[in-house]
Amino acid sequence: MRFDIITIFPEMLGGVFDFGIVRRAVESGLIEISVHDLRDYTFDRHRQVDDRPFGGGAGMILKPEPLVRAIEAIAGGPGEASTVLLSPQGRLFGQRMAEEFSRKARLVLICGRYEGVDERVIEHWIDDEVSIGDYVLSGGEIPAMVVVDAVTRLIPGALGCDESALRESFSDGLLDYPHYTRPAEYRGMKVPDVLLSGNHAEIDAWRRGRSIQKTERCRPDLIEGVNRSEDDGENQNSDL
Ligand SMILES: C[S@@+](CC[C@H](N)C(=O)[O-])C[C@H]1O[C@@H](n2cnc3c(N)ncnc32)[C@H](O)[C@@H]1O
Repeated sequence: MRFDIITIFPEMLGGVFDFGIVRRAVESGLIEISVHDLRDYTFDRHRQVDDRPFGGGAGMILKPEPLVRAIEAIAGGPGEASTVLLSPQGRLFGQRMAEEFSRKARLVLICGRYEGVDERVIEHWIDDEVSIGDYVLSGGEIPAMVVVDAVTRLIPGALGCDESALRESFSDGLLDYPHYTRPAEYRGMKVPDVLLSGNHAEIDAWRRGRSIQKTERCRPDLIEGVNRSEDDGENQNSDL
């Protein structure tokens, strides 16, 4: 899969993908990431990418000419790549959308700045507007990093073990279960006995119970859509 990111601050994205799973995915050829400086698509001496809003008001707006030139040069012809504008007004990004994106061959992520982007660009050159949450950031660069990271984890082979992505928070509508590692006792606090038992059926049941408990406590809005069996009820409150 290929990600292209269009930004006026390409330096912000330098280095951020050079670590961990994303770096490994790049090195093993599972993904390609290319960062493009929007100013390279200007023709004037000042490399101007923004202008004042018609009708007055505060702030500047990203102009259509450089942005459309960049999108057309990078995204190619119709249907070659999906163009995504990071925007607080977009569809809320979540695990389902990350899964949807992970099945695409190419994503062009466009980072807004200032007061945003000329509406004509959004209407004619953008396939999807995507928000990472109901708050306003200064630019689309951090949201673009979030999208690349979350989508990369879902590309088969990126985690080294496909099962881990299937068991993470949100994959089945629940939050992840609690994790423990050595030592089995730390400052008097013991790891639940069931995890040391070697009984995988009991461990799975305990984990599902704890996932449900954590989801009910922290994200009750998620729990309604989850299919629950009688066993889930039994395992929720027990350490076995
Ligand atoms: C200061 S914001 C513009 C906000 C815009 N005037 C509004 O009120 O909807 C500048 C840029 O940051 C990015 N941005 C800000 N918050 C975001 C969010 N929650 N999700 C995705 N992108 C965001 C967008 O690219 C946006 O164009």
